[in-house]
Amino acid sequence: MNYKIGIFDSGMGGFSILEELRKILPNETFLYYKDSKNNPYGEKTEEELFKITSGIVEYLRIRGCKMIIIACNTATIKCMKKLRHIYKKLIFVGTVPAIKIASDKGFQNTIVMATPATINSERISELIKNNKKENQKFYLLPCKGLADCIEVQNQERIEKLLFKLLSPYQTKQIDSIVLGCTHYSLIKDEISKILCHATLIDGSMGVAQEVKRQLKLNNLEKKGEKQKIRVVTSKLETC
Ligand code: DGL
Repeated sequence: MNYKIGIFDSGMGGFSILEELRKILPNETFLYYKDSKNNPYGEKTEEELFKITSGIVEYLRIRGCKMIIIACNTATIKCMKKLRHIYKKLIFVGTVPAIKIASDKGFQNTIVMATPATINSERISELIKNNKKENQKFYLLPCKGLADCIEVQNQERIEKLLFKLLSPYQTKQIDSIVLGCTHYSLIKDEISKILCHATLIDGSMGVAQEVKRQLKLNNLEKKGEKQKIRVVTSKLETC
């Protein structure tokens, strides 16, 4: 079987998911589309985002991808339904903030960090409504600008912005933080420096496991082949 698994994000955020995929799928071929040119997705309109993401899906499809992983919470929430409707032959696996995990683990005071587009979406309200138990509190925190400074690796800005966003919660007995944007998985240490008692909840492993499940279900698992990973980027980068 000569097909590939396509992955995309508005840059390097989806690497956190790719990392988990590498561990549990040793025989697959991955094609990662790193759309740094269009970062941040979280501050775009739904129409803009759909135009961008359908272009990427088309790019991946014509290069032999049968499964597409949307390694981005914002694009999943805003575009996955429409993409599934248009590309009926492709299998899509998306990423949503791991609110269910926080709830199942019985945390009491959880911050959900995500892009403004994700935080303001109906899907977030739905996830909370369907999973929240009595006595559990979820604080929704839109982190405008955070994904962009992670993408350009501006450490000073990341730390300043995180302090501004998280320090007001230092007195609130926060026990957990849902990382509702794949970029935030790359700055776990910086987040823990401000709210050191909170458990960070990252959905990357769950996404990788769902990919494995879907490959099996659709009889697409590769056996005996060497793992291959290729990353393409929409932006010319200087090093
Ligand atoms: N990494 C993306 C997410 O999970 C979005 C970051 C952005 O705003 O571009 O939501």
